[in-house]
Amino acid sequence: MVKAVVAGAAGGIGQPLSLLLKLNPLITELSLYDVVNSPGVAVDLSHINTPAQVKGFLPENNGAEEALKGADIVVIPAGVPRKPGMTRDDLFVNAGICATLAQAIANAAPKAFILVISNPVNSTVPVFAEVLKKSGAYDPKRLFGVTTLDVVRAATFVSSVVGKPLDAPKYNVPVVGGHSGATILPLLTQSEPQIPAAILNDQAKRDALIKRIQFGGDEVVEAKNGGGSATLSMAQAGAHFANLVIQAAFAGKTTVVQSYIDLEAAPGGKGVQKEIGSDLAYFSVNVELGRDGVQNILPIGNIDDQEKTLLAAAVKELGPSIEKGVQFTPAPP
Ligand code: NAD
Ligand code: LMR
Repeated sequence: MVKAVVAGAAGGIGQPLSLLLKLNPLITELSLYDVVNSPGVAVDLSHINTPAQVKGFLPENNGAEEALKGADIVVIPAGVPRKPGMTRDDLFVNAGICATLAQAIANAAPKAFILVISNPVNSTVPVFAEVLKKSGAYDPKRLFGVTTLDVVRAATFVSSVVGKPLDAPKYNVPVVGGHSGATILPLLTQSEPQIPAAILNDQAKRDALIKRIQFGGDEVVEAKNGGGSATLSMAQAGAHFANLVIQAAFAGKTTVVQSYIDLEAAPGGKGVQKEIGSDLAYFSVNVELGRDGVQNILPIGNIDDQEKTLLAAAVKELGPSIEKGVQFTPAPP
């Protein structure tokens, strides 16, 4: 019996994400919260003959907390998306929405796994952590910044450059760091299957591949031309990540994934800080998922000199974004 909640459920990501969660047979209750249209989306999805019982909630009558009561997992794509010319940092306006939702979670579902999709992830995850800390409801093992779309893109783009696009599902290219531009660090040397040396040693090809993974979000923003950013691919990535968290917590299936987390969530975080040569509090790392969320933080492992240079750039850019999230003061309710 798993209760999932989507906050921002009527949006571009929220609707397909809610559909994919409705199709997950492990989910028995699905609550959809948004400031608009969520009851309609809920009624629509409720006609699908899968186990999840769907309900929609609006802010009226304490709707956020009503939706969240008893939640095991909350997935959050609430907030504005980018338009061409904007950076993710320009979306820091979403910090207020995140703080409000964090407070509602602290009040109504303090034990839930929290999956943050709302941008800028590098800052919104610290915003969640700070609000939860103030309510005594913070468990760093249960808070995740969702960076799965970077991993999905890496597999797709690598398989294409290698000339095996039909093998995209077989590729696993770890992506660590954060979720914007230079903070997105694809570890091409750790790709499985391996990327042929002829491609890795071709500097122009390698640079183009890294750039495409780091700026894949811009590709979608530009193609949508003012109509928003990635929604369908994000919904798939978010539902996949949510399923892995659910499988680990409720079906005993441990997996390793990358996610942007508090490095204090597990002892391995100190080892990562040594590897990255910094005491950054948050980083997207290899996370072993278990019953309580983050079970173990695994090392980044061997990387080559080019990746070390990219790592230094990622660390440099992440620091101020984390600080901005930590320092954010939510408006009084
Ligand atoms: P959207 O505008 O289509 O949908 C956002 C939804 O949030 C809307 O339905 C809106 O009503 C709702 N909302 C606004 N304030 C709310 C509140 N206080 N409580 C609950 N819901 C609220 O946007 P989208 O395309 O779905 O993108 C949502 C967010 O996800 C953006 O910030 C975007 O940048 C981010 N995003 C992140 C990733 C990632 O990889 N982490 C990928 C794509 C998009
Ligand atoms: C993405 O990576 O697609 C998202 O972060 C949305 C964006 O603004 O690019």
